[in-house]
Amino acid sequence: MAEGRARHVAIIMDGNGRWAKKRHLPRVMGHRKGVEAVRALVRSLQSIDLECLTLYAFSSENWKRPEDEVDDLMELMRRFIKSDLPEFIEHNVRLKIIGDWQSLAPDIVEMLEDALRRTENGTRTLAVALNYGAQAEIVAAARAAAAGGEITERSLAQHLYTADLPPLDLLVRTSGEVRLSNFLLWQAAYAEMLFTEVLWPDYTPDHLREALDHFSRRERRFGGR
Ligand code: FPP
Repeated sequence: MAEGRARHVAIIMDGNGRWAKKRHLPRVMGHRKGVEAVRALVRSLQSIDLECLTLYAFSSENWKRPEDEVDDLMELMRRFIKSDLPEFIEHNVRLKIIGDWQSLAPDIVEMLEDALRRTENGTRTLAVALNYGAQAEIVAAARAAAAGGEITERSLAQHLYTADLPPLDLLVRTSGEVRLSNFLLWQAAYAEMLFTEVLWPDYTPDHLREALDHFSRRERRFGGR
């Protein structure tokens, strides 16, 4: 039985370091190629029928990486926003940031605020997880729900970063690792999961198309039968 098309796909982009290592390149080159893969995927939203793509770009645990690497990732983020914002606007991509992004460097926060404002009318959503951790998200949502009255599944979900997004249909992780790494733990409750060996810099829009095709052929039961 076909379930129909996916509305919301999230991706744990993993394997940049291994991609670089295989080529005897510095890790930052893997991240750079990783940004190119992101760009190609966002461009492909023009021809792929998907309402929301959520990407895990920087977790709250990623601060534990060497300072140089954290700096490289932040710099790539700055450049990406600067270079690709006009395209987002032109192609009706609405940028959304999930995570504790307001505690990033002030210039990045400012750039992101500007980008959020300028893309707010977009019809497809690109949600980027920055300084994101799902357990912290759930704790904050539970607190907010409790402050507003009763904690229920519904009231808690209304306080998650993703409250305004379609339900998560499919979660993809690249590079062969099979774990969630504190990403969208609540939202993944009924999501299909796809783990692929492809390293993130090698991930193309065709891989996403294949994943969506695979999804549309799966039967989801949501606990029923
Ligand atoms: C995992 O590779 C990837 C990350 C920690 C960061 C993902 C970031 C990007 C693709 C670039 C920035 C994104 C945007 C949206 C501008 P890894 O370093 O853990 O790889 P490894 O496991 O092979 O070492």
